Amino acid sequence: MAPSTTKMRNQFPSLVRLIQVDVAVSDDRSPVGWVFGTFMYVYDDEKKNPWERLVPIGLQWGNDPKLTQKEYDAGTRPVETWMNPAAEVIRKDLGGKRPCWGWHGRLNGPADNFMSACLSCHSMATSSGGKLVPPKAKYDPKTGRWTAQDDKERMKWFQNIPAGTVAEGPGYSADYSLQLQMGVTNFEAWKASGGYPWEDAGAVPPGKRVSVKARKRQAPDTDEMTGPTMDYTESA
Ligand code: HEC
Repeated sequence: MAPSTTKMRNQFPSLVRLIQVDVAVSDDRSPVGWVFGTFMYVYDDEKKNPWERLVPIGLQWGNDPKLTQKEYDAGTRPVETWMNPAAEVIRKDLGGKRPCWGWHGRLNGPADNFMSACLSCHSMATSSGGKLVPPKAKYDPKTGRWTAQDDKERMKWFQNIPAGTVAEGPGYSADYSLQLQMGVTNFEAWKASGGYPWEDAGAVPPGKRVSVKARKRQAPDTDEMTGPTMDYTESA
């Protein structure tokens, strides 16, 4: 699951709350060189094997750069996303407020912002760590519709950026990997700070276990991420 800020960390053993499983596969047939896909966990599915309770939501191999607000209003739908009709049924059955999985029918999972999409956010992966999410869309309570405020600006996030290319400079491409981007930006921040010790950064050195309570003291902003977890002691 994508954290909203690089300060939210969870580097200790804790209970898994499975919502979504994402995959990214490099594929030459895709206009961006990548195919992203996602599964959601359906807890009340009768299937006993938990793996089989993961329902595919869809696949995305492009950002549908021509699918503007105007086109969407005229009835055009994504051609570079495939949505599983069964997942659509589940989304509607749940009766939540999200109008679609990803922006205007593009792919996203239940843990992701519907104003964005898998490839949209990931296409922004650069070493300089630019803005990942497009500007907020507008909600009209009368029609119940979400529309773009400045569609020209918004569509900058839905371009088909080829693999290994920088979407917006400066910096190097992290080739659709936001984990790599975050690793590089965290490392740069650490270097810029003069190389503070691991503990001050709220990080846990590899192979070392730190108690959850001790970690909360170090980094209070991780509190809501910890939840009911097992407590590991320093010597365990
Ligand atoms: C709003 C931004 C955003 C959206 C939308 C998004 N992700 Fe991510 N994703 C991230 C971030 C940030 C990370 C890195 C998290 C970390 O390292 O802790 C990540 C990590 C990943 C990874 C691990 C590999 C890597 O280095 O990036 C995969 C695979 C992935 N996401 C797939 C998906 C899929 C599939 C979707 C759509 C269903 C999706 N993502 C939607 C932000 C996003």
